[in-house]
Amino acid sequence: MSAHPPPRPAIHEDPTLQRSLLRWQVAGVVVFALLVASFPLYKAVEGPRRDHALKARETALVTTGHRLWALDCSSCHGDNGQGGVGPALRSKQFLTGIEDEQMHRIVAAGVTGTAMPSWWDEFGGPLTDDQIAAVVAYVRSWQRNAPSVPSWRNPQGG
Ligand code: HEC
Repeated sequence: MSAHPPPRPAIHEDPTLQRSLLRWQVAGVVVFALLVASFPLYKAVEGPRRDHALKARETALVTTGHRLWALDCSSCHGDNGQGGVGPALRSKQFLTGIEDEQMHRIVAAGVTGTAMPSWWDEFGGPLTDDQIAAVVAYVRSWQRNAPSVPSWRNPQGG
């Protein structure tokens, strides 16, 4: 005859189980609190990092745009955007009056019937979409200190 094991206590009366449950509950609360506390920390670290990445991207775009400007645009619009055969784009009036998207479209498609060619490779030009975006970013970078040139459309007068 083998002895029966003592009957198990009911779950809600089992002190070992109760302690274990309590430990898990406490651990859950602690993990949750850590998670909540980590959000501001994440924001504090990630926010500046993202700003930094955005700025670095902008700088790279402008640098590329500057090179492309010298190569493709300066002959008509001037080394510094002061204008020539083409309008002066370094002008407060021009820059505040145009969105990047509009500028992008004009550069991509050109202006039919004028010396301004289409630059987008989809239209037979030499520049990719990204390169046009770079040149637009470069021109946009002038805006902060752009001089007032109300006659920007006609920099050579007459
Ligand atoms: C061969 C000369 C020439 C070259 C090269 C040239 N442009 Fe132009 N561009 C012009 C002329 C001329 C106009 C004015 C067209 C018109 O009468 O509307 C113009 C107009 C523009 C305008 C529109 C201004 C407005 O009326 O709102 C933008 C923007 C522009 N050019 C950007 C560029 C960029 C960027 C490049 C280089 C990728 C470039 N251009 C290269 C001649 C040129």
